[in-house]
Amino acid sequence: MLEPLHPLLRKAYDPDRFALLGKEVLNDLVIHLNEAQSRSVPQSMPWTHPEEEKKHWETRLDRPEGLAALMREVIRRSNGLQDPRYMGHQVAVPFPDGALVGMVTDMLNNGGAVYEMGPTNSAMEEVLMSRIGEMMGLAEGCGGIMCHGGTLANLVALLAARRAHGGQARDAWRDGDDGMGAVLVSDQAHYCVDRAVRIMGWGKEGVGLVATDSHHRMTREGLEESYAAMQASGRRVVAVVGSACTTSSGAFDDLNLAADFARERGLWFHVDGAHGAPAVFSARHRQAVAGMERADSIAMDFHKIMGVPALCTGLFYARQEDSFLPFTQAAEYLWSDAEDPEWWNFGKRTFECTKRMLSTRVAAVLEEYGPEIWGVLVDRLFGLGAELADLVESRRANGWELAMRPEANIVCFRLLPEALGSLKAENDFTLRLRQKHLEVGAHYVVQTRFGGVVWLRCTLMNPLTGAADLNAMLDAFEGLAAGLANQG
Ligand SMILES: Cc1ncc(COP(=O)(O)O)c(C=O)c1O
Repeated sequence: MLEPLHPLLRKAYDPDRFALLGKEVLNDLVIHLNEAQSRSVPQSMPWTHPEEEKKHWETRLDRPEGLAALMREVIRRSNGLQDPRYMGHQVAVPFPDGALVGMVTDMLNNGGAVYEMGPTNSAMEEVLMSRIGEMMGLAEGCGGIMCHGGTLANLVALLAARRAHGGQARDAWRDGDDGMGAVLVSDQAHYCVDRAVRIMGWGKEGVGLVATDSHHRMTREGLEESYAAMQASGRRVVAVVGSACTTSSGAFDDLNLAADFARERGLWFHVDGAHGAPAVFSARHRQAVAGMERADSIAMDFHKIMGVPALCTGLFYARQEDSFLPFTQAAEYLWSDAEDPEWWNFGKRTFECTKRMLSTRVAAVLEEYGPEIWGVLVDRLFGLGAELADLVESRRANGWELAMRPEANIVCFRLLPEALGSLKAENDFTLRLRQKHLEVGAHYVVQTRFGGVVWLRCTLMNPLTGAADLNAMLDAFEGLAAGLANQG
C-alpha cells in the first residue's frame, strides 16, 4: 500500500509557504537592487580568496538556517552586477524583470527537447528566431535555435558548417571525421572557437589563425595566408569565423571582407556575435556589424548586452533548414523519424536534450519594451566605452595609456606613473595594481593581455554607470598606483 505523503514533500510543495517565502525573498531582492544602485556596499565585487570562501561554505553549509537566510547570504556575498561600479565581465546586468520571468519559468519547468515537453516555449522560439533574425538583416526564411551559451552555439554552428561544406565523400555525422578539417578565425577570437575545432577532432592544427591589423581585425592577406597554409598541409577549410566583436579588446572584424573571402572559396561564413551582434539594433552602431547579414550562421548572446539573465543564446541560420544540419539522430522515446525536419521538436537541432524556457525570457523583454530597448542599451553601453576612453586620454599626463579606441563597451588601458624600464616590469606592475584593486577597490575591473602587454580591462555592462563612477575608478587606481610605486 502506498505510504502517506512524507511531511517534507508536503512542506516542499505547500503553496501557502511558497507565497510567504516568495514575499520575503522578493523583498530582499528589492533591498539588494536599491543598495546596489545606490552604491552603498563597500565593494561591487566582494573579494575573498577562493580558499577562504570555500572554508566559509564548508562551515556554513553544515548549519542550515532556511532558504530565505541562505538567499540573503548568497546575495550579500555574490558579485553585485546591479552595482554601477561593477565593470568587469561581459555578463548582462539583467533587466530586473528577468528575475520574475525566471521565477515563472522555473516553476513551470517545461523542457524544450520536444514540442510536447514545452509547447508554448517551443512555438515562441520558432517565431522569435525568424523574427529576430530578420530584424538582424537576415533574409526571409531565416531561423534557428536558442541554446545555453555562445560557446555551445559556436560549436553547433561549426558542426553545421562541416556537414554543409565538408567536401568529404563520407558524411562526418554518420561515419566520423577524417580529422583534416579546418576553420579560419582571428588570432584575437574567443577561445571557444579553438575549443570547438578540437572537440570536432581537428586538433590544434585545425585552427587557422588569421593575422589581425593594429585594430585587431582580420586582414585579407591574413585570410589568404592562413588558407594557403591549411591547403599546403592537406587540410580542408570549411568555414571562416568573423568576430563581432573580439572578447579581449572589443574589436569588430570587417564582416564584409570575411564574407567576400568565404563566398569566393565556397566556405561557410559564421559570425561569432556573442557579445557585439546586438549593435545591429542601434542606428548609431549598426555599421560595426555591416556584412553580418551575409552570414550562414550567427551566434548572439541574449545574456550579454541584451539584458537577459544567463544563459540564453540565439544561433541564427540564414536558412532555417540548415539548423537541421548539425545532428541527425533517432530517439525513439522522443520522436520517430530522425530525418523529418519538424521544427517543433527542438532536440533535433540542439546539442542539449532538456533546455530551459529560453524563448520566454526573450519574449518577456520584447513584450515589455520592444526591440528598441536593445538599441538604446547598445547606445548607452558603447557610449560609456567612449566616455571611459576619453577620460583615460584626458589623464595621460598621470601615466594613463589607452590600448586602442574602443569600438564597443570594452575598454583596455593601463597606468604607469613612472618609467619602469622593461615590458616585464610594466606588466608586473599592472598585475600587482589590478590585484591590489581587486582586494580593496569599490569598482570591479579585470585584466587581459594582448601584444605581450597586460592591460586593465573594463566591460561596461551597466547602463546606470555614469561618468562619476568612471572617474572614481580612475582616481582609485591612481591612489593605489602611488602606494605601489612608493613600495618600489
Ligand atoms: C566573442 C565571444 N564569443 C563567445 C563567448 C562565449 O560565450 P558564452 O559565455 O555565452 O559561452 C564569449 C564570451 O565572453 C565572447 O566574448
